[in-house]
Amino acid sequence: MAKINSNYLKLPGSYLFSTIGRKVREYKEIHPEADIIRLGIGDVTRPLSSAVIDALHSAVDEMGHEETFKGYAPDLGYEFLRNVIAEKDYKARGCDISPDEIFVSDGAKCDCGNIQEIFDTDNTIAVCDPVYPVYVDSNVMAGRTGEYDPQTERFKGVIYMPCERENGFVPKLPDEVPDLIYLCFPNNPTGAVIKKDMLQKWVDYANEHDSVILYDAAYEAFISEDDVPHSIYECDGAKDCAIEFRSFSKTAGFTGLRLGYTVIPRDLTAGGERLWPLWARRHGTKYNGAPYIVQRAGEAIYSDAGRAQVRETIAYYMSNAQVILDGLSKAGFEVSGGVNAPYIWLRTPDNMTSWDFFDYLLDKAHVVGTPGSGFGPHGEHYFRLTAFGSRENTVRAVERIVSM
Ligand SMILES: Cc1ncc(COP(=O)(O)O)c(C=O)c1O
Repeated sequence: MAKINSNYLKLPGSYLFSTIGRKVREYKEIHPEADIIRLGIGDVTRPLSSAVIDALHSAVDEMGHEETFKGYAPDLGYEFLRNVIAEKDYKARGCDISPDEIFVSDGAKCDCGNIQEIFDTDNTIAVCDPVYPVYVDSNVMAGRTGEYDPQTERFKGVIYMPCERENGFVPKLPDEVPDLIYLCFPNNPTGAVIKKDMLQKWVDYANEHDSVILYDAAYEAFISEDDVPHSIYECDGAKDCAIEFRSFSKTAGFTGLRLGYTVIPRDLTAGGERLWPLWARRHGTKYNGAPYIVQRAGEAIYSDAGRAQVRETIAYYMSNAQVILDGLSKAGFEVSGGVNAPYIWLRTPDNMTSWDFFDYLLDKAHVVGTPGSGFGPHGEHYFRLTAFGSRENTVRAVERIVSM
């Protein structure tokens, strides 16, 4: 008799975005005239840059001719892309990462979710609270956690690291030593960043305890301050303890095109075994490569024109973030994030729960955001707004919130 992986049954339904969708639908039924502005979902809205579009067109043309047609991509990704990533994302920042340490994929979500496969199920994991849910859920599916406790809203056996305003939403080094440590900076959902000296402490801690850091830098392109590291490999010793994930999604609007990459240093080991060959084996067995045309589009964001266009789009989103930060802080809200990340994390007024504030904002301002409690218990009394809307909608949303 076939049996299911019963670990999947431990997962409570992912209610966050479906509940948001339902609540908005119900509200619209009662108030069909309401002009609702959505600043909730973390998806981009600006079109792809012209450098990317041109690269796509010419790669499509290549696919139409026998001499230039491409079939399966190489396992690790095309060299033209890995070379430019190594050069521009790493060497230019003083990080010694070679092209063959870069694994091109169709995005950071898959890699963040799949990486746990190369580690034993006995490993303990540590995650931030609040957290991007993929890290926890993928470990639950693999059987690396105990049951979900609805009382605490936590899975047994997982080390949750509270991220609170008192610690600038950067977790303390845990007392109980985890084997695998998930860190994400700039952070989704809090928009917080980690300074270089603090990240160095994490790297030293991981090296001291033989832990591996799984560093999600999907929002690296939004960093605007100088003392914020763009890569964990800016820290000494990080090549001995860290894997890094990057994404083209928010950097260059590739949420629909799909492209990302993972860096696994050649000599990084766990329990004496090198991780690079394990991930290469996994990649080769279970993944058949990001499309040629998309890898060419990815290459295009590193050209001078591509870089300038990508920066322009990011500047557009970040001035939305500034509009939200300015407006809400003038109106007396406690706000953070939004300087090195496209997310604004605000404390709900009068200690309202995150969901009460969601309903209040929908009703009074017709603005949709994301309740912080949906990302973990330490997100309670917080709310996430994103800078990914249009300028016009962002300005209108802030005006409405301020005059509530
Ligand atoms: C922290 C974080 N990592 C990864 C991803 C997924 O990136 P991708 O679109 O490359 O799969 C997201 C998307 O929202 C994210 O917020």
